[in-house]
Amino acid sequence: MTQQANFKPVVQAAQAKDELVINEAGLQAARKSLDDGAVTPAYGPHREAIIKLLNDSLATELVCVLRYKRHHFMATGLASPKIAEEFMVHANEESAHADRIAQRIVQLGGEPDFSPSTLLERSHADYDESNDLKTMVRVNLIAERVAVETYHQMIALIGDKDTTTRRMLEDILADEEEHADELSDWLES
Ligand SMILES: [Fe+2]
Ligand SMILES: [Fe+2]
Repeated sequence: MTQQANFKPVVQAAQAKDELVINEAGLQAARKSLDDGAVTPAYGPHREAIIKLLNDSLATELVCVLRYKRHHFMATGLASPKIAEEFMVHANEESAHADRIAQRIVQLGGEPDFSPSTLLERSHADYDESNDLKTMVRVNLIAERVAVETYHQMIALIGDKDTTTRRMLEDILADEEEHADELSDWLES
């Protein structure tokens, strides 16, 4: 990519023209290898790496579900029932993220890793057992910021290598940003 920036415009135009032709060999190959399901030759060589990234995010989402559920039940009866309810709303949204990620892993021909024995070591975010509301909010804000940063990095890494996965991650990122925003409001209030 950086090399292309140094080419003269004429060369760039010729290259672009070449690139705008459908590769018939790719279409022929797509008619075969039916076991690969949605994955065709144009997918490129990064399938395993993308499945690994997705599985680490799946672990993160599952740890977030568990942390938010623990916080929901522990916060019930504390000063703010509204925040306790919101912890459950977040838990359900993280669970929906986990489902979307697992589904995408299967579409890519991989296996979603739900193994509880390695969940924490694969997760980017931490579990937490605090008992006071303010610490819970703070810990969740940290976890959401870790999620936001991770999804930003994944989206940049995946780029044009897998647009379907990238769009899914962009959706999830928007939710995590909303979560972080809400938690930071509560921390200030
Ligand atoms: Fe999430
Ligand atoms: Fe979140």
